[in-house]
Amino acid sequence: MAVLITGIGELTTNDPELGKLRDAALVLDGETVGWAGPAARAPDADERVDVEGRAVLPGWVDSHTHLVFAGDRTAEFEARMAGQAYAAGGIAVTVDATRAASDEQLAANLRRHVEEAAAQGTTCLETKTGYGLTVADEARSARIAGAAADEVTFLGAHLVPPGADAESYVDLVCGEMLDAVAPYVRWADVFCETGAFDEAQSARVLKAAAERGLGLRVHGNQLGEGPGVRLAVELDAASVDHCTYLSDADVEALASSNTVATILPACDLSTRQALAPARRLLDAGATVALASNANPGSSYTTSVAFCVTTAVLQLRMTVDEAVWSATAGGARALRREDVGYLRPGARADVHVLDAPSTTHLAYRPGVPLTHSVWRKGAKLR
Ligand code: NIG
Repeated sequence: MAVLITGIGELTTNDPELGKLRDAALVLDGETVGWAGPAARAPDADERVDVEGRAVLPGWVDSHTHLVFAGDRTAEFEARMAGQAYAAGGIAVTVDATRAASDEQLAANLRRHVEEAAAQGTTCLETKTGYGLTVADEARSARIAGAAADEVTFLGAHLVPPGADAESYVDLVCGEMLDAVAPYVRWADVFCETGAFDEAQSARVLKAAAERGLGLRVHGNQLGEGPGVRLAVELDAASVDHCTYLSDADVEALASSNTVATILPACDLSTRQALAPARRLLDAGATVALASNANPGSSYTTSVAFCVTTAVLQLRMTVDEAVWSATAGGARALRREDVGYLRPGARADVHVLDAPSTTHLAYRPGVPLTHSVWRKGAKLR
C-alpha cells in the first residue's frame, strides 16, 4: 500500500540531487520510499497523511549503542558528578549484573530501550555485546541483540575480565569466542584504550575478526590520545568511535580515509571529558557521524536529538551538518546506503518533527520534538 505524506514544510532528503525541499511530499511504497519531491508534482496514493507544515527528515541512524545489559550504575554517575574520573573498569559492574540476568530479562531490557529510542525518532540502531565476556555470555548477548537491533557488533574485547590474564583472554576472544558469536554479528569492535586493550592486542582482535569476514569498528581516543584512530584507519575500519582526543596526524589520517569519525557528545558530557573536536574533523574533510552511545555507564541516553542539539550548540556544527551526521553519517559508519536518506529506494524510515524546520532541534534545546515516526513503512507513533 502506498502512503502519500503531504503538507511537508521542510523535507531533508540527504540526497545531493533532491537536496532540502520546502512545500514537499513523500510517498512510502510498502517498506521503501517510492517518491520524494515538490508537493505540486506528487503522484496519487492509496492513503494521504497531512503533516500540516511540519519538518520531515530520515529517522536517526544510531550507529553506536551498548544495550544488551542489566543493572544500574547510578552510584558511579553520582561519584563522577562529585569529581571522580571515568575509567574503563566500571564496565565490570555491568558485566556482573549482565551475567546474572536471564535471557528474558536481557531481551526485555533491550526491547524497552529500542522502543524508547524509536519513540524519539531512531529507526536504525546498532548495538553491541561486551558485558558478557565469557564465550557463553557473549554468544547469548549477540543472539539477543540480533532479535531487536538492525546491526550487531561483537565487543568481547571490551575489558579484560577482572582476575583474567590479558594475553590468554585475547587468545579466547580471537578463537573460541569469535567462533561462537560470528553467526550472529556483522561487526567486531575493540576498546583500544589505557585500562582496556593495547595496540598489539587490539590489532590481534581486529585481524582475527577480519579473517572471519566481519567488518571492523574501534573504540578509540576516548580517554586520551592513543593508537586507536591510527589502527582503525590502517585496517579500514568502518568507524572509529569517541575521537575525543585527537592528534593532528589522527585528523589527517581520518580525512584521507574511508573510516568515519563517530562522535559521542552525550558520553563526553556524562564522563566530564573534553568535547570531541568535531569542527576540526569537518574542516579537515573527515566524515563525521553522531551517535548516542547509549549504555548504563558512560552515556545513559537513547536521545540522538540531544546529541544533535549538543553538536550544534557546543561542537560548533551547523544544524545541517549535525542532522546529516546523525542520519546519513550514521549510515556511512555502518556502511549502509538504504537508511539515512529519503529518496526513492531508501528504507521508509521517516521522522516528523513537531516544528517547521530542523533548526528547531537546536533552537529549542531539550524540547521533545518528535511528532511521528515510520519505520520500514509502518507507523510507530
Ligand atoms: O563506549 N568505552 C567503552 N565502552 C563504553 C562504556 C561502557 C561502560 O562504561 O559501561 C563507551 O563509553
